[in-house]
Formats: sequence, structure tokens, C-alpha cells
Amino acid sequence: MAISIDKNNTLFKIDTAQSSYILKIMPDGLVAHVYYGSWVDSADVSYLLRFVSRSFSGNPEGHFLDKAYSQDTLPQELGTYGVGDYRPDSLRIQLPNGAQACNFYYRSHRVFQGKPPLEGLPATYGEDAQTLALTLWDKVSQVECTLFYSVIAGYDAIIRSMQVKNGSDDTVYLNRALSCSMDFDHSDFDLITLRGRWGGERQLVRNPLHPGIQSVESTRGTSSHHYNPFLCLCDHQATETTGDCYGFSLVYSGNFLGQVEQTQLSNTRLVLGIHDSGFSWQLAPGDTFTAPEVVMVFSDQGLGHLSHTYHGLYRQHLCRGPYRDTPRPVLLNNWEATYFDFTREKILSLATKARDVGVELLVLDDGWFGKRNDDTSSLGDWVVNEEKLSGSLGALTADINALGLKMGLWFEPEMVSEDSDLYRAHPDWCLQIPGRYKQTSRCQLVLDFSRREVQDAIYDQLCAVLDGANIEYVKWDMNRHLTDVWSATLPANQQGEVAHRYVLGVYSLLDRLLNRYPHILWEGCSGGGGRFDPGMLYYTPQIWTSDNTDAIDRLTIQEGTSLVYPPSTMSAHVSACPNHQTHRSTPLETRGAVAFTGSFGYELDLGALSPEELDTIAQQIARYKHLRHLFATGVYHRLRSPQSGKDAAWCYVSQGKQQVHFTYIQIHKVANSPLVRVRLQGLDEGLQYKDEATGAIYSGRVLHCIGLCIPVLQGDAQAYTVVLQATTKR
Ligand code: DGJ
Repeated sequence: MAISIDKNNTLFKIDTAQSSYILKIMPDGLVAHVYYGSWVDSADVSYLLRFVSRSFSGNPEGHFLDKAYSQDTLPQELGTYGVGDYRPDSLRIQLPNGAQACNFYYRSHRVFQGKPPLEGLPATYGEDAQTLALTLWDKVSQVECTLFYSVIAGYDAIIRSMQVKNGSDDTVYLNRALSCSMDFDHSDFDLITLRGRWGGERQLVRNPLHPGIQSVESTRGTSSHHYNPFLCLCDHQATETTGDCYGFSLVYSGNFLGQVEQTQLSNTRLVLGIHDSGFSWQLAPGDTFTAPEVVMVFSDQGLGHLSHTYHGLYRQHLCRGPYRDTPRPVLLNNWEATYFDFTREKILSLATKARDVGVELLVLDDGWFGKRNDDTSSLGDWVVNEEKLSGSLGALTADINALGLKMGLWFEPEMVSEDSDLYRAHPDWCLQIPGRYKQTSRCQLVLDFSRREVQDAIYDQLCAVLDGANIEYVKWDMNRHLTDVWSATLPANQQGEVAHRYVLGVYSLLDRLLNRYPHILWEGCSGGGGRFDPGMLYYTPQIWTSDNTDAIDRLTIQEGTSLVYPPSTMSAHVSACPNHQTHRSTPLETRGAVAFTGSFGYELDLGALSPEELDTIAQQIARYKHLRHLFATGVYHRLRSPQSGKDAAWCYVSQGKQQVHFTYIQIHKVANSPLVRVRLQGLDEGLQYKDEATGAIYSGRVLHCIGLCIPVLQGDAQAYTVVLQATTKR
């Protein structure tokens, strides 16, 4: 059993195959955090809770003379505001008298099979799961707080969430409600975060923890290009294959805050959840607030195992729909081929060339609706521009289908242009603050998705388009961040809810569309990877990783992304040279090898390519199709980090370890360069593997211990790939 409780109902132990998590109900009812780390065979490790009297650390009720017992130093499952725990807190509740303090004590618990869904929120799921629900109570506010801990069989992950229920007769306000709090009795950690910018998302940043608070956060209304809702604490010496690592990943797509404090006593507290900046949630008597979940993963085998756990869990217990387990079609997106400047003939000509090289899906990007020929108009008017398409979308789709291709379409449902019929009819439907200038970004405004009638109007428009043509893929874009966060329909004391209600509105609309069109493959996007988070993956099993399609820049973007997110969720396209973002030229082979890492496609004008280049692309696609099951479901190992600026390497190993795909990229060539050898990971040491191209045979152990020799490659941005096939079965 994953969750066990001692006979006194004071010690709770949650086990995964390789980790244990222990918490304890203290005699006064406070809930102490005892341990999280490598699996241990006993819950009785409360000796870890050491009590030392510290000056300026206050003592809670019942401990007047017990100066060593303080919420300032006690490791806790729920740190609250205003009662002497000065570390980053998880919960602040404002009572009618203005007081914000709250203090929670154990009330009851429940262990049950399964993992309940979170109302209105994305969440991991699994039938073979077990959950501990620990209910706490604050007698002054009469608010109840339930902490949930779930484990899904087969994963070294513990999934936490929190529900707050107002049990009083008064209305109270949640001014901070973070989903997860974690205390460690030391601070010998490196902190890894994923930082970035547009065109350079999720760069892996690793630094030793230092005294004070370090944070990752977004107040942009979305998870953002700039920070990802993920933190990792690991041993200073942790590598891809060794060391203790703890991951914390928030399943949410809006404002978030992750804080880590190295405390005065060199302990560590980590909190993660919805950002409290501008946040406040009204709880009328009987109301409940559900905070999004945090997926905690522990690995005592380095960052590789941490990633593999997230990959498996997110691929199979977060992503949904028919494409969860099915390799995705190879696509051609017309954006970098035409931008807004296309006609029916141009699209059909692209599609024909795409069909000829083996592409399976044609994606018509921005510019097919309203009167949109640049980015200044028509968002919100999801009506096909039949003049531009020389006919209906249904007819164009039928022609694309007749070529043997599926048809995909771009939308940006959350946005509105001032130059649109929707805006002219409903100028109050966008986020705006009375009396203030409505800030535009990319010439557009944000629709107030906290309002159901706004969601409904967009839903109806999208359905009309999707019902009128055989659309089998949708790219859901979002090209600006939120400003002027205020909603015309909420009273003043609920304006702090708008940002979260906006996110709930996006989720709700996605949910309705997914239910109505279960066959569609949904791709998330936000000016590239500006909303690449687990929340969106629940709805869109793949996300456009970055608007930066440069193969070399993609190496660090894909490396950082792969720390948490399965490669199958990363959309990756081969684009033209010189690259439109960096103006760098890289060989077509290298662009293909890098894009193979994710859900694969093309984004360039095939009509501008030579017959030789088209031939190379046809070969690339054939090779991808041959291997895509491995890319979609295999275990991904990072072997060399592109952060060196010198080279990068990775490999995929199939679940049964029968097939391996190895990629080496020489980023920068130096004269008279040293010879390179790369050791592989994840193979079966007892099997023999054959290099498909050369026929050379290596044992799995040799590949682990010695590795592959990289031939001398001439020039920058060169790729070397090897497919290894086991010659025997285990
Ligand atoms: C931003 C996306 O990331 C691009 O791929 C493209 O769809 C444009 N938006 C279209 O406006």
C-alpha cells in the first residue's frame, strides 16, 4: 500500500517505489513535515524534528513555557500567515475584521483509492492511484483546509493539491493560496529553474541556493516565456545519473509564484502556487476554493530519472485524447512560408509539394479569417475570408483531403482586435480598467474570459468554423500578455479574482471544444512557447516550443524543456535558411536531426527549394516515420549539454530497449579539433546492438562504458546520427 498510517493516527507515510514522504500530527494538532527523500522502511523517523529554543521565535497556544516549540522553525505541511511562521507562507485569509492571520490544526483524514479530479482545473489522472486527504481546521476563522496527497502506481511522484472551505457564517477572502509547501532540514541544494524570453524559452539555469528568498514567478496572466512553473532542488554534485533531485511542477497556466528560502538556520522552505500579486478570492459561507496541483518528483539517480518520471507521468496521465499514445502526423505549417500573404493557389501548391515529400497534415496559420492581412485587425471575427481563400474553407479542406492530407487551422480565441465586428459590438468584452488607456500589444486586446458570455460567443464562432470543414488539427495561439486586469461584471471586492477566472475560462472553453471534437489534435502556442506548462498539456498534447526555429538555438530550448516535458509534447519544425529569427544558416540534415526531437514538421516554402533539398526532405520524413514510435514513446536521455556552446548529444531508447536513436550535434567547429566519444545511457547492458548504417556491433555495456566515437565533422552545426537495433531479444 502506498499510504500507511501508524496506529495512533499521528504518523503518515506515503511511499513510491523509490521515495518516502512522512508527516506527523503533533500533540497540539499542528502538522509537521518530517521527511521527503529516498525510500525508507520506517515512518518512525520523528527524531528528525529537533526542538531548540531560538530567540525571536514565538510559541503557539499551549506552549507558553515551551520556548523550543515554534512555528518559526517547525517544518510544516502548511505554513500560514500571521502566526509566527515568517518563512514564505501558503495561506492568508482575511476575516471581516481585517485580520489576515490563520492557524490550522488537524481535524480528520481519509485515505481512498483513486485520485479525484480538480473541479475546473487540469490535473493528472490514473485509476491505479491512492490519495490521502488531510483536513485541517482554523477555529477562529472557521475555515477548513484539506491537503491532498496522491500517488499514481509506477511513478516516483507525489501529487499535492489544496482545497479551502469557508465553514463560517461570514464572507472571508483568500489573499494567498499556494498549493504546496515543502520544508527541508538543510539547504545544501542547487536550485534549477527554467528562465527565458520570447525566442529563447526555458533555458536551464542552475545555481547554489544562497541565503534569503529566490523565486520564479509570472504576473503576466499566463505562465510566460520568462519563467516556467517548475523548480528543482538537487545535490550540488547531482548529474544526469547521480544525486538526489526534487522537482516541483505546477499544473497551471496563469500567474504563479515559486519561492525558495534558505532560512536563518540553513533550512529550506519551498512554496509553489498561484501568485498572490493582485490575487484575492471571495469565499462566501460554504464556498470552496481549489488550488491547482503540484507534481513533486524525487529521484536519487540524478536529473535523468527525474525527467523520465515527469515524461512518463505527463505523457500518460496528463495528456489526453486519441493522440496521447499515437505518434503525431508530420505537418507543414504555412506561417514562415507565406506569413499573411497567401492565396488558395499558394496553399494548394504548398500542399501538393508537401504531399509529394510525405507530409501528412497541412496547417493553415494566421490570416484566413475576417479581413486579416496583417496583425492589426479581425481577431474575434472567426469568419472564413472566402475572398482570400477563393471559396469556402470546406472546399479548400476537401481539396487538401483529396491530396491525401489532413487539414489543420490556427485560432487565437482569447484575443480581439479593435478593428473587428466583435469589438465594435461589444467594446466592454475586453479586459480594461475604467478611465485607463487599454494597452495594446501586437495591436490587440485580451478578451475577458472570466465572463461566460464571452466564452460562449467565441465557442459558437469556433464551432461554426469547425463544423463547416473537416479540420483535424487546431493550433491555439495567444500572442500577448494580460494588462488592465479588471472585469466589468464583477464587484470591486472580487476584482482580485479576474486573473484566475480568466485561466478557468480558457480551461472551460478548451474542455467544451475537446468534448465536442474529440478527434482533433490540439496544439498549444503562445508566440511560441509562452504557455508551455502542464496545465495546457492537459488540453493540448503538444505545444509549439518556440517561435525561434533556428536549429542551434533550439538545442538549449529543447534541453531545458525536456527537464520536465516529454519530447512528444514539443512541436519542432524544420524552417528555411537563413533562419528568419537569427539569420543563421545550418545544414538541412542538422535542422532535421534537431527537429526529430519533438513532434515533427516543416515550416518553409517548399516551392523555393531545389530538387535535391526536396529529396533530402523526403528521405528525412521517411526516416522520421520509420522511427517516430521510438521518438513518441521512448526514453529520452540527455548525454551532452548544448550549454557548453561546443556540442550536444542525446538518445532515445525504446521501452523494451530494443531500439536506440542517437544524435550528436557539433555546434562549433575548431581547427585541429579533439576527437569526441559519447557514452550512451539507458540500454540493456546484456544485449548486442547493431549500428544500422555500418553494421558494427556493440554490447549495451560497451555503449554505456565506452560509447560511440564521433567521426570528424567539418564545419559548424553538423549532425551525426546513429540508429542501433538490438540483435537479440531479452
Ligand atoms: C505566433 C506563433 O507562435 C506563430 O507560429 C504564428 O502562429 C503566429 N503567432 C501567427 O500570428
